[in-house]
Amino acid sequence: MKTLVLKPDKESLAIAADIIKSDGLVAFPTETVYGLGALATSGKAVKSVYEAKGRPSDNPLIVHVHKDYDISELVYDDFPYVEKLRKAFLPGPLTLVYRSKGMVASEVSCGLDSLAIRIPSDENAQAFLRACDVPVAAPSANVSKHISPVTAEHVYEDLNGKIPLILDGGRCSGGIESTVLDVTTETPLILRSGLVTSEMIKKVVGKCEYAQHKEGDKIKSPGVKYKHYSPKCKTKFFERKDLDKAVEEYKSALNRGLTPIILCDDEIKSQLMNVNAIDIGKTSKELAENVYEALHEAEKISDFIIGIELVGDSEIDVGVMNRFFKATRDD
Ligand code: TXA
Ligand code: MG
Repeated sequence: MKTLVLKPDKESLAIAADIIKSDGLVAFPTETVYGLGALATSGKAVKSVYEAKGRPSDNPLIVHVHKDYDISELVYDDFPYVEKLRKAFLPGPLTLVYRSKGMVASEVSCGLDSLAIRIPSDENAQAFLRACDVPVAAPSANVSKHISPVTAEHVYEDLNGKIPLILDGGRCSGGIESTVLDVTTETPLILRSGLVTSEMIKKVVGKCEYAQHKEGDKIKSPGVKYKHYSPKCKTKFFERKDLDKAVEEYKSALNRGLTPIILCDDEIKSQLMNVNAIDIGKTSKELAENVYEALHEAEKISDFIIGIELVGDSEIDVGVMNRFFKATRDD
């Protein structure tokens, strides 16, 4: 299959909508990462998303809709705080997990009785979803377990030949995936951390907790149990206090004929001399924006990525570190 890469305009959006409505797949930009869209009401289309990504079939997908779509067709609203959350944060990088009305294909939620819905704020995402005007199930547009894509080139590298169309809206501004929040309980529960933090949610609804996964518990968001965000090369992670050990590791890798690179924040970079390093940023927002781009860049130019614990200036660090640790740990 030939994969077209087109800038979103009237013509390409009409082509994209046709592909979606005939059970095909379209990659599209959002403010977080690129998504790989499929018609959510079609079991056939949704199954082909899992196939294209090589994704385990027990990791549910988020349904994306434009901002005027009537989501009461799809889900139940169980608590009054949910409306407050929508008003405060949507459209934007917050995915809400509701009780499902069972209107989309069962493959979307892998048989769970809940449904995750996201209303992205990105202009091109809105234009694409409006052109489709149907619920679009979309995971991140990478091969399962690889680093999430923040440019159309990243999508092309992973999915060239497997999908008919990539809408190229340039680089994503947020850089990490949406916060996933369970709103089927009295207290909203963060299933995956992201740019909308528990502090921000607490300001609006007065309460918010992180889901705790204890061994033996039924996992509420199956996606979190899988290895994720992995570069294709060898990796190793160090805490900040072990910076000396990280530099030793770097030097010994050089001696073994490898091409190592250190990924770190601005403060650590300023302490390093004579090593090849990428400075991911200073503030939490910068770290979130740049973390996937830096991982993509590093795996292109090096064969051994050494990650050093990142510290920014806000709770967004929880989401960034969750991804960065999973990407650079060595198991
Ligand atoms: O920012 C984003 O959320 C991006 C863009 C494309 O919108 N999408 C994304 O999708 O990150 P994906 O498939 O890579 O991650 C979806 C996450 C997984 O952790 C999955 O387990 C969780 O959402 N999820 C989806 N449906 C769920 C449900 N019904 N209950 C609990 N968790 C769910
Ligand atoms: Mg993903």
